[in-house]
Amino acid sequence: MSDELRAFLAVDLPLEARSRVAEAMEGLRPAAPKSVRWLALDGVHLTLKFLGEIREDDVPRLVARAQAKLAPERPFEVALAGYGAYPNAREARMLWLGVAQGAGSLAKLARKLDSAARAIGAPRERRPFEAHLTLGRFREPTRVELDRASPTESVAWTVSEVVLFESRLSPGGARYVPLARLPLGAGGESEFNEIAPEI
Ligand code: 2AM
Repeated sequence: MSDELRAFLAVDLPLEARSRVAEAMEGLRPAAPKSVRWLALDGVHLTLKFLGEIREDDVPRLVARAQAKLAPERPFEVALAGYGAYPNAREARMLWLGVAQGAGSLAKLARKLDSAARAIGAPRERRPFEAHLTLGRFREPTRVELDRASPTESVAWTVSEVVLFESRLSPGGARYVPLARLPLGAGGESEFNEIAPEI
């Protein structure tokens, strides 16, 4: 029997964008009750497809399928701005930073990855994809007053790859370990693509 691991596909943030996210967390602090559990800065990402438990043996097939789907895509700009609470501000479970630019491109990647993940038997996403960056979570539904948050500058960068992460859960919180990096617009250059690149 192959070992299992908990995995998801996401857009990672460059270092510079992470420091901007730290500022956004500071801006949100006045609106956030003490019970919020902020995400560790090195763990923030934009989830595209949550896979749950998958077999380790399935990873190469998943990577190959996902890479084939991503090869025709091109790098694009994203900008994060605006706070929100999920599912709402009266009974928040989670605080997020919104996507002001690039949401359509992220949704397209999410759709393609959802379809690629079917190759290893992952169930199709039932909920519509809403791009967001989780900043903090609550154990219990909690009232938040988002108008107390201070505005921050938008956090922008160019998305040029998708990362397959393993999520290692421990009492101290989840640790996200990159397993594979899948470039956008790899064309024929990917080791998983059998078509030779045109030079
Ligand atoms: P989110 O916080 O970005 O909304 C790794 O655990 C990532 O997968 C998290 O960042 C979380 O997304 C997402 N995730 C975790 N559990 C999930 C679930 N049961 N269904 C969908 N997404 C989940």
